[in-house]
Parts: sequence; structure tokens; C-alpha cells
Amino acid sequence: MRALVVGLFASAFAGCGGSFQPGARAAADPNEVGFVASDGWAFPAGSIQPTLATGGIVTTTDRVATETGTEILRRGGNAVDAAVATHFALAVVNPEAGNIGGGGFMVVRRANGETASLDFREKAPGAATRDMYLDERGEVTDASRSGHLAAGVPGSVAGMWEAHQRFGSLPWAELVQPAINLALGMVVHDRLAGSLRSYAERLERNPAAAAVLLPGGTPPPVGDRLVQADLAETFRRIAENGKDGFYGGQTALLVEEEMRRGGGLITANDLASYEAVWRDPIVFSYRGHTIISMPPPSSGGATLAEILNILEGYDLASLSHHSADHVHLWTEAVKRAYVDRNAYLADPDFAELPTERMISDDYAAERRSDIHPDRTTPSDSVLPGLTPVPAVAMATPEPEHTTHYSIIDADGNAVAVTTTLNSLYGNVVMVEDAGFLLNNEMDDFTAKVGEPNQFGLVQGEANTIEPGKRMLSAMTPTIVLDPNGSVLLVTGTPGGSTIITSVAQVISNVIDFGMGVANATAAPRLHHQHLPDVLRYEENGLPVDVVAALEALGHEVDQRSGFQGDLQTIQVLPGTTTAGVADPRRGGASFGVTPVRQVVQ
Ligand code: DON
Repeated sequence: MRALVVGLFASAFAGCGGSFQPGARAAADPNEVGFVASDGWAFPAGSIQPTLATGGIVTTTDRVATETGTEILRRGGNAVDAAVATHFALAVVNPEAGNIGGGGFMVVRRANGETASLDFREKAPGAATRDMYLDERGEVTDASRSGHLAAGVPGSVAGMWEAHQRFGSLPWAELVQPAINLALGMVVHDRLAGSLRSYAERLERNPAAAAVLLPGGTPPPVGDRLVQADLAETFRRIAENGKDGFYGGQTALLVEEEMRRGGGLITANDLASYEAVWRDPIVFSYRGHTIISMPPPSSGGATLAEILNILEGYDLASLSHHSADHVHLWTEAVKRAYVDRNAYLADPDFAELPTERMISDDYAAERRSDIHPDRTTPSDSVLPGLTPVPAVAMATPEPEHTTHYSIIDADGNAVAVTTTLNSLYGNVVMVEDAGFLLNNEMDDFTAKVGEPNQFGLVQGEANTIEPGKRMLSAMTPTIVLDPNGSVLLVTGTPGGSTIITSVAQVISNVIDFGMGVANATAAPRLHHQHLPDVLRYEENGLPVDVVAALEALGHEVDQRSGFQGDLQTIQVLPGTTTAGVADPRRGGASFGVTPVRQVVQ
């Protein structure tokens, strides 16, 4: 993990609006409060630096996508304009998760105080049925994970179109153009080369995907020029015809043909009737801050609210970060929130959800009341708390595909977007002659009550498959306001079921432990998801004495391999400077319009 600090200091920007004064950073130094981890933790306190900038900032997992979004801000576009351009650029330069064949969620907080959340989650095709992934013996097949049947009706283009219709300021075609340019020929960078290399074997199985992404039969090396001509054409239709360039005409015909060829269900009619939906964001307070996050069909905001509302009853600031006491309380809160998430949450257009109660302070107090300070409550005793439903279980946590970007513009408009194809490269089916990959999001439904999906999530009846329904998600794009009502954080991450716990931790690291965004991102992460009843931590993330103390409280504690999440977070510092951090766990970049210091992780 190599961090490259692009050496741009205030003096280089005299006259460009740069206002960085080294001495003035003392009170707002994003590295000022540290954390404790074992020797060997990959990103010790102070080891990463934030980008510092004025005039707007973009943070994504991919340097080229970040540059694309920043360029839109430089041209006077607002945060939503930059989001549209960034989203489409990611679909070209980061095809493992960036997409037009998938979906996602956007949370917006405008400088005038207006908030909005946009659901562009995929939907089950009209011909989908509850038991479509069961064989004749009633066993779950793998058709929800790979191949044509795994794809839900994509939502990304409708989402970007809808966001632009409501909030955009630059012409639509200008925001799509960078993706066209990149698709016509881009220089392969390490992020893309590494991803294609590690996934080449699976991509080879789909001739259309292999022809584009493995030119000449092998993953392109860094520095090669990669051309995605069909994708450029698809983007050209989107630039010219807006949403209809994807959901109608040639693109829709190509999707329908692809489905016919591979036995999938999505029809031109499914595409034509797809709508992105504005929903009321989940809004709750945490220690005087206001948190704005995604409502169902994402479970992110409601689960985040339950976790933080429970924790609000404890004086975490009086505890040391990642002391056994802190981790114990955190784990107990998370267990309770996740069992509710799995039991109750689903597409609100298809089921009555107890969301209001789940995010209320009263309910948090009730949940808190059986947390013991001196011993864990085993997960099989932590039942869904709202109405009697059978307990559900989870096995292994999800791996960590998907991508998130965070943006603030010069006026203070803030946008957080998490988007995915679900697994890396989705269902690994490229729509022939259209050049984009489809998702395998159908696997986020409950294929069979009581059976885990590919990532071990065992979800409830409310999330079973119905035509036109959206599958439950964990994506948690989130904006945090400080006690004065000004934007403090814009954040989100990939990571399947770990998304919610990662977001909860970065917020708590800043609010409860006073960390700046760099240390709040670098700090090791924890995860629990009710079942299995195991607290997982990143390698060398917890000191051995803390692990021993947690075990003495009855927790099963397990060191995981790899990293948890890929947070892309912006923190607004006092004054006019913003700090952005692309998580060093997977790399990325945060660039500002008027940079003081730019960092590529
Ligand atoms: O919507 C969701 O929660 C998942 N489809 C997100 C998938 C994800 O983060 C991929 N990695 N596991």
C-alpha cells in the first residue's frame, strides 16, 4: 500500500484561493488523535495523510474517476454533476464494481439544508418468482450468483438521470462525455490491471467480457491502452437520449437479446418501466450531530441508527478506543441491531416495515436494557426485538466488492453514493455489443427462508422474491452534520454486511474519540453481524490483552484475513478547508479543486 503525497503546498497556490497555513492546522489536524493497535497493524496512527483542499473535493477508490469528478467541479458543476460524471467514469475504469449494469443509493445534503435520498437499487424482473432459485428438491441453486438469471433490472442510469433532473446544473451530455472518452481509450492503471489479473479466469468464461477486458486473451498490463468501443457507443446513446438511451432503443434491445441468449428474465418492458425513487432519508441524532443515511430498501441507515442510538447511552469518550469495555459495548449494540435488520427490513413498497420504531431512542433504550457490562449476551439469546418473528441466522460475512464515492462542492452541497454489481464483475455476463456487465444482485433476496445467500446472510420472509421488488441492501451512504447543522462528514464504503459496521466506526471514531478523518479511516475495524456469534477484527487490529479481556467476557473473537471495507470519507474542517481520505486498504484518491495537499493512496 503505497501512499503518494502529491506535493502541492500553500505557497504553490498563492493567488489560487489556497488558504492553508501550517500553523493554523493545530486545532484541525486530521491526525491529531490517534488509536492503539498491535504492532504489525498495517496503518498505524499517523501513517496516512488526508488530502486538504478548498473549493470542493472528490474521494473515490480510483484516481482516474476522482480526477473526472474534480474536473466537473472545476468547470463549475455542483456535487451532483460531479457525482454523475464520477459514476459513469467508474463504470469504465473500475468495471469490477463501477457500473451502469447495477444499482445503488445516493444521499444528498444541499447547502440550503435540503436533504434527499435516491434509491436506484435493481428490481426483480417481472417474470421473477419466489422459488426461482430452488431446484426440484427445494434446494438453493447457484443461479442467483452467476449467469443471466442472477441479474436484476439495472438502476444506475435511471439514478444518475433522476439526480441530474432534480439537482444537476451542467448539461447531461457534458457529464457523460468523460466516460465516452475513457471508453474510447484509457491507459490501464495499477488498480484496473490488478483487478483484471485476479479475475481473469472467471472473465474468460464469458466471451463478450473476455474480448473486451482481456484483449488478446490476457489481462492488459499497466500502461497499455484499453478500448471499450461498445461501451463508448452505449454511453453515446445515454449522452444523446438520457435515461431512454439505456432503458429504451438499441440498448434495451441488446439487453433483451442477451437475456434470450442466456436464459435470463429481463425484458425491454422491465427496462422501460424501471424508475429510480426519491425516498425520505433516515435522519437521527447522535450526540448532538445529525446523521442522514439511506432508508429501505437499504438496511444501512436504519441499522446504523439502531447501533449508534444504543451506543449513545454510554459515555464512550470516557473509554479508550478499542479498550475491552469499548469493544464489548460496541459488539452488544451491533448484535442487537443486526438481528433486527435481518428479520424485518426489505423493500418498503412490498412490506410493512417497523423502521420508525427501529430508529427511535425509546427502542434503543429497550435494546440497551439487557446489555450486561460484565458479560456478553450470546447471539442465540438476542432475538428480533420488534414483533415476534422466527429468529434468523447468518453464517459467514460478505466479501468486499462494491464501491463508494463522496463529494462536496464549493457551495457546500454534499453527495454520498454507494453503488455495486454485487459480486466483483457482477454475474460476469457482458451484454454483447453493449459493452457493460450485468449485476448478480438477485442474490441479495431471500432465495429460501433459513438458507444463507452467497455471503452468509440468512434473511427474512419480508425479503423474498416478488416481481418488481427491490432486494434488501446493506449499502450505507451517509452524511453527518455537526451540532450547528453544517456538514462534517460524507462517507460510505463497500463490504457487504460489513458496510454498516464500517460506517458506524468511522463516525464514532470522529465523534466519540476525536480522531480526524485520516486516523478514523486508518484505525482497525471490527465486525459482528449477530450470527455467527463471532467478533471479527482485522489482522493485528486488536492488542492481545484486549482480545483476552473480551474472551473473559464471553466473546468469541476471531482475527480475519484481509481488510474490512474501503471507506471514502470527506471531513469538513473549521474554516474553508476539507480533508478527504481514500481508504489505504484498497487505494484510491481524494482530489480537491484548489488543493493544498493531494494524496493518492
Ligand atoms: O447491496 C448490498 O448490500 C450488497 N449487494 C453489497 C455487495 C457488496 O458490498 C459486495 N461485497 N460484498
